[in-house]
Amino acid sequence: MEQYKNVFIFDHPLIKHKISILRDKNTGMKEFRELIEEITTIMTYESMRDVELVPVEVETPLEVTTQYRIAEDSIAIVPILRAGLGMVNGVHKVFPTAKVGHIGMYRDEETLEPHEYYCKLPEGIESKMVFLIDPMLATGGSACDALNALKKRGCKKIKLMSVIAAPEGIKAVAEAHPDVPVYVSTLDRGLNEHGYILPGLGDAGDRLYGTK
Ligand code: PRP
Ligand code: URA
Repeated sequence: MEQYKNVFIFDHPLIKHKISILRDKNTGMKEFRELIEEITTIMTYESMRDVELVPVEVETPLEVTTQYRIAEDSIAIVPILRAGLGMVNGVHKVFPTAKVGHIGMYRDEETLEPHEYYCKLPEGIESKMVFLIDPMLATGGSACDALNALKKRGCKKIKLMSVIAAPEGIKAVAEAHPDVPVYVSTLDRGLNEHGYILPGLGDAGDRLYGTK
């Protein structure tokens, strides 16, 4: 993946530890949800390294000093429904005032083609830094379509954050959207014939919400 300059794969022991529990088929819904949230929070620290800061004057008990804050109303989070919803609180822990948009996508189980069924974005999103979030980057179809949907609505500064990615998904996004930095906590081996990531963690939406 070194050929893709905009792809960042985390190699952090704390993430490795949490991912190992997340993958375990015996990990229940509550713990699964908490782990997705915790991993997202760790990833958010890294992926926010280059957010825009503005100088502010702060009066300490001793003197006035110039400090730096994240520009007000400059960040939006956009989860891809459903599984992306599981990551929202993880970003909000670090950055609680980020506005939230929603893009609804589902993969046709036969063709693996993504279908957009919902899109509601915060006003003025075109001038914000947008974090598109989805725990799974498999074929990359859903992420590519969601990125197209955001760009069509004027978004210019977008980052994609996924917990687990397959090489196929990274390639698809990096080639179709070379301007979009991609942050993934773990790169897996590949996809099975049903488009599931191997070794993966199964169906993220089902494990988050207990639908199967
Ligand atoms: C999952 C996942 C991604 C997509 C990834 O969603 O949350 O959105 O699959 O696959 P892709 O990279 O091959 O497009 P799914 O379509 O299962 O919908 P859900 O979140 O409602 O379960
Ligand atoms: N979506 C999931 O939830 N899991 C996969 O492994 C692939 C796509």
